[in-house]
Amino acid sequence: MRIDTAAGSILCDPWVNPAYFASWFPFPDNSQLDWETLGRVEYLYVSHLHRDHFDAAHLRRFVSKKATVLLPEYPTSELEDELRELGFTSFFKTKTNEVHTLDGGLNIMIQALTSPTDGPIGDSSLWVEHDGVRVLNQNDARPTDLATFAELGHVHAHMLQFSGAIWYPMVYELPEAAKRAFGKQKRDRQFDRTIRYIDDLKASYVFPIAGPPCFLDDELWQFNDIFGDEGNIFPDQQAFADHYAELGRDNAVILLPGTVAEVSADDVRVSHPVPDVKEFFAAKPAYLAEMKARKQPVIDAEKASWRHPEVDVLKEMKRRIEPLLDESVYLAKGVGGPVRFDLVGYDGETVESIVVDFPGKEVRRYADEKVRYRFRTERALVEHLLHIDEVDWVNSLFLSCRFSAVRIGQYNEFVYAFFKCLSEERLQYAEGWYSEQRPDAEDVCMDGWVVQRRCPHLKADLTRFGKIDDGVLTCQLHGWKFDLASGRCLTSVGHEIRASSADQPAPEPAS
Ligand code: FES
Repeated sequence: MRIDTAAGSILCDPWVNPAYFASWFPFPDNSQLDWETLGRVEYLYVSHLHRDHFDAAHLRRFVSKKATVLLPEYPTSELEDELRELGFTSFFKTKTNEVHTLDGGLNIMIQALTSPTDGPIGDSSLWVEHDGVRVLNQNDARPTDLATFAELGHVHAHMLQFSGAIWYPMVYELPEAAKRAFGKQKRDRQFDRTIRYIDDLKASYVFPIAGPPCFLDDELWQFNDIFGDEGNIFPDQQAFADHYAELGRDNAVILLPGTVAEVSADDVRVSHPVPDVKEFFAAKPAYLAEMKARKQPVIDAEKASWRHPEVDVLKEMKRRIEPLLDESVYLAKGVGGPVRFDLVGYDGETVESIVVDFPGKEVRRYADEKVRYRFRTERALVEHLLHIDEVDWVNSLFLSCRFSAVRIGQYNEFVYAFFKCLSEERLQYAEGWYSEQRPDAEDVCMDGWVVQRRCPHLKADLTRFGKIDDGVLTCQLHGWKFDLASGRCLTSVGHEIRASSADQPAPEPAS
């Protein structure tokens, strides 16, 4: 989406190239738009690092490097680092839930969500106001409510997600009837959630955006919602608009690639690139078949890049995952059992079984044991993840839907939280985040000091990363320093540390 105002344009999450092992393509196809022109903007907003929002190749090639990036306030600098890598140099660092006024009286506010379950450790929404017209691009963020935005005045255009963007329940090895029933529940829940948000904000117009993708590879074709399956979790914009109309609502506006919607305080004027939007969606099966044929070379080229037979998968998984298992307290405990990966070889038959043993803190061959989850996927995909040193297997393998799964018991968020945190920094952040959810944030004894266990910066475990010299604690994850006697952070404003000398009475646990 591009939000144009008299005080400048904001390009939001331009996604064109397929994401997640060439599984997801934008639907409808937006590759034919005039991206040279669309990319000439004053501002860029990338809501988060999921690959259907952060399209590195596209950003590098088409978006003006003169654009100022409107940056959500995330706990790690990954998004900024990745954008700098692509050539962006101008950043406007927002404060979450704070309105900022840019040149020409353009007001913006970005709300950043930062729990380990929000996107790849972070998702966000952008609120924009100019000349009395307010727009909320909620995107696929899931705040508990929209009160912070509603308090800023009546919103005229509310853009939000309404469709699925996950692998559940399709990849689960379940009887078809059960899968359909779970899918239907999920589809209904997605619509209900969207309506709840809409009712929360009561905007003049509602724009269903941020999905669904389409699946053009033969192996995934069945995930497209073109077979009349009520358990399909990827309903399109028209399906949502129809459902919404059945509830007696008439303020939904569909956006196609190339649609222009002029939003004012009183109305919206829309011009579409097709004569009839309903007819466009009615012809979806033929549209997708044509798109599939056209994009096949892209899929073939991607597939050809995945195989890395030189990678010793077990050895590499051991090398990268075991140190993290060792450090993991909350996530490992949360998973609570072994997780098995069955990797199917190039011949489609040979299977190598590897277990990530969370309680045992090791990665090893499967030993005919009970496991918490079993994933079955192509060995080539895991080879590729290891080859590119991917730290987020959710933002790559899992969202690709190129696997099947069995689980024993309930959904376990810790499994996916762990596999999106395959770097020291992310793991420490997630561990710290879970630890802080506990009422009694923990203190530890170190070198004659009683100190809070988690670093006030990004929550590294100070029993591992803290080093005390002369009453100054240095956290070696990013080198931040703290004066323990005063609790003052010597590296940045704020970020006090809770500490006292061990001969003093221990401080009260935080409530
Ligand atoms: S987590 Fe960054 S310095 Fe401690």
